[in-house]
Amino acid sequence: MIVLGIESTCDETAAALVEDGRHLLSNVIATSVKEQALYGGVVPEIASRRHCESISAVVKKALSDAGRTMDEVDAVAVTFAPGLIGAVLVGVNFAKSVAYALGIPLIPVHHVRGHIAANYIAFPELKPPFLALAISGGNTLIVDVRDYTDLQVIGATRDDAAGECFDKAARVLGLPYPGGAPMDALAQQGRGGVYELPRAHVSGSEFDMSFSGLKTAVVNLAHNASQTGKMLDKASLALDFTRAVSDMLVPRAMAAAELCGRSAVVAAGGVAANSIIRADLQRACAERGYTLYVPPLSLCGDNAAMIGCQGYYEYLAGKRGNTDLNAYATMEITDA
Ligand code: KG4
Repeated sequence: MIVLGIESTCDETAAALVEDGRHLLSNVIATSVKEQALYGGVVPEIASRRHCESISAVVKKALSDAGRTMDEVDAVAVTFAPGLIGAVLVGVNFAKSVAYALGIPLIPVHHVRGHIAANYIAFPELKPPFLALAISGGNTLIVDVRDYTDLQVIGATRDDAAGECFDKAARVLGLPYPGGAPMDALAQQGRGGVYELPRAHVSGSEFDMSFSGLKTAVVNLAHNASQTGKMLDKASLALDFTRAVSDMLVPRAMAAAELCGRSAVVAAGGVAANSIIRADLQRACAERGYTLYVPPLSLCGDNAAMIGCQGYYEYLAGKRGNTDLNAYATMEITDA
């Protein structure tokens, strides 16, 4: 079964053809990130406009890269939540039109379910159940994946997502948007142990997380340095910051895996590209005898391959969208 996946929740317009949920036939991504970088973050209106301009060409390229025609597509899977509402609407309306015109099923997919599913493409042997740590620009979740479409949230951020925290910390350090990858590169040059940064605990909730205090601490350090003329050791700050983020994520993910009785741990989302977090996860999993799955960098960020993949499993579970399918800015992963 060939599924056309479509993704447009933020600044990437993406389309992919995926066969039987596991085999990637093509994976095309157009991004407005360079334009967004001028503003230090994503301007929703610009993202929506660029999606409108590029979605037809991106889908056509996904078909031609796969050497397939539209007639060979069996179903259309589209991200319908969560994301920037104007951006998500472009993908949803395009997918509805394709499904209606071709008379094929339309499958709504939750964005974070898609991120987790990126691992099914990278690791053909991976099957639920497993524990997933989904860390991206807009979402930070610890999820028990009991089956492909049966998920339970074990912990979540109460405020900012880990990626948002990376982007804001990077901005005050003068790094370009999106700041995660430049922070990663800068941290490699740091000696660390220079700045004491907070690791928040959410009272009464062992698995929930909070990143806003950490973000504020970095902002305050940067402002204080510029006001007093003190030199900031930016590389060490980047390293200490990343260690603080990792300290909030990795021990919770390990404890959640233990609680749920899972010996496989999956990382997903753009922040899963971080080399320090990857290394910490690897070490923690090795100590406990868990198997760690982390997608290649190309499948960590937003893409449509992950949507085509999860769409296949949603289809098998009977999920269908109609011409009245809507887009949603927020939605729990368990409500999709
Ligand atoms: O998954 P993604 O492309 O979009 C969302 O679904 O949100 O994630 C984007 C986020 C951005 O915040 C970006 O700064 C972060 O992933 N990111 C990283 C790295 N590469 C991308 N964060 C930390 N280290 C990285 N190497």
